[in-house]
Amino acid sequence: MNRGRFITLEGGEGAGKTTQSGLLAQALTARGIRVLRTREPGGSPGAELLRGILLGGTIDWSPRAETLLHFAARAEHVAKTVRPAIEAGAWVICDRFYDSTMAYQGYGQGADRGFIAEQIRLLGFDPDLTLVLDVPEAVAAARMRQRGGEADRYERLDGGFHARVRQGFREIAAAAPARCVVVDASGDIDTVRATIADHIARMPD
Ligand code: TMP
Repeated sequence: MNRGRFITLEGGEGAGKTTQSGLLAQALTARGIRVLRTREPGGSPGAELLRGILLGGTIDWSPRAETLLHFAARAEHVAKTVRPAIEAGAWVICDRFYDSTMAYQGYGQGADRGFIAEQIRLLGFDPDLTLVLDVPEAVAAARMRQRGGEADRYERLDGGFHARVRQGFREIAAAAPARCVVVDASGDIDTVRATIADHIARMPD
């Protein structure tokens, strides 16, 4: 059986990852491809439990502990959900993966980026393609206001934090051009969908 593919969507809050991963899943399914949509933190029972701990609560984790909690969730998610699906031939579309730890914990919260890079190396499991959805802060803020609901621990952090996260994603993408593409996600939903479809069409067989 053919090995599947692992596609991750990254970006700050309000970039439209969830909308676009849904549209990508629909398009691939229409081509007869078996698709699994998942997200981080979460995507397996143990990892969803850790998601609750990471996004809720009031504990001010030490940077290393917070990094390792994300990697604990990720190890569980890869082992129980992502790797088995890919080995069975599915295309896995994942909202956020290790680049979010580098951007949020590393660039945003000041955790040691070398330590995070080492965790990435130890995980030894990389996406085939990472779409980094990039939007100016004003657009992201307007989308977040529209979305409403209660903000999680990260959404509550200040504008400076979110600006560092955005810059982090751009630097991560620039340093890994074979895996990452930056998608201008400030346009309307269909324009962004078409840009993503182009990148998918250019993936090697
Ligand atoms: P979301 O699923 O609604 O995007 O929420 C996940 C939040 O967790 C988002 O604010 C980004 C944050 N996050 C990290 O800080 N580090 C990580 O490694 C991941 C996967 C997410």
